[in-house]
Amino acid sequence: VGTNAEFEPFEYLQNGEIVGFDVDLMEEIAKSMGKEIEWKNIAFDGLLPALQAKKLDVIIAGMTATEERKKTVAFTQPYYTASQVIIVKEGDNSIKSFDDLKGKRVGVMLGFTGDTVVSEIEGVKVERFNAAYAGIMALKADKVDAVVLDSEPAKNYAKQNPELKLINTDVAKEEYAIAVGKNDKELVEDIDKVLIELKANGTYDKLLEKYFN
Ligand code: ARG
Repeated sequence: VGTNAEFEPFEYLQNGEIVGFDVDLMEEIAKSMGKEIEWKNIAFDGLLPALQAKKLDVIIAGMTATEERKKTVAFTQPYYTASQVIIVKEGDNSIKSFDDLKGKRVGVMLGFTGDTVVSEIEGVKVERFNAAYAGIMALKADKVDAVVLDSEPAKNYAKQNPELKLINTDVAKEEYAIAVGKNDKELVEDIDKVLIELKANGTYDKLLEKYFN
């Protein structure tokens, strides 16, 4: 199972170990299927190519099930609804919506859906970073005016950095799902079955409570 452990609270490193909501969820799924997981932590934009090259069987990485990605891999049913939010400096009142990003330097992460959302807005100077952490550093150093990132990791960065604030908008909703090989229909069905079980028996809610408050 591949992931990119730079996406708290879904997957991140704690004392060198990969932990997070996705990790617990996938472990529960594996347990129920009688399988043991071998975790691989790689760059986010390397995940889909690795799955296609059969170097991975499964990806769980807060990955949005986009139409574009569905052309090359198969997704399970969604397990989380997220959105793209804008992070700016506390004192900045010039950005209140995605439209306001016109003419601004905006940090996004390579291969993230935020990259796609921002790149579609005309007149934005898009700056691409390898990890969310790097984008946040650039924002703090005034090298970019804003960062666009998934809601939950963004909340974490805002909590850890009081000089930053979040602009929530209602657009850019997206759904995270587990990815498997395009022809692995059986695996999708098996995982979907377990997901339904975990939602019905309270396990899923317990994990939500553990990682989101
Ligand atoms: N939801 C976004 C996407 O699918 C970002 C996911 C980033 N995940 C990660 N583990 N780094 O592109």
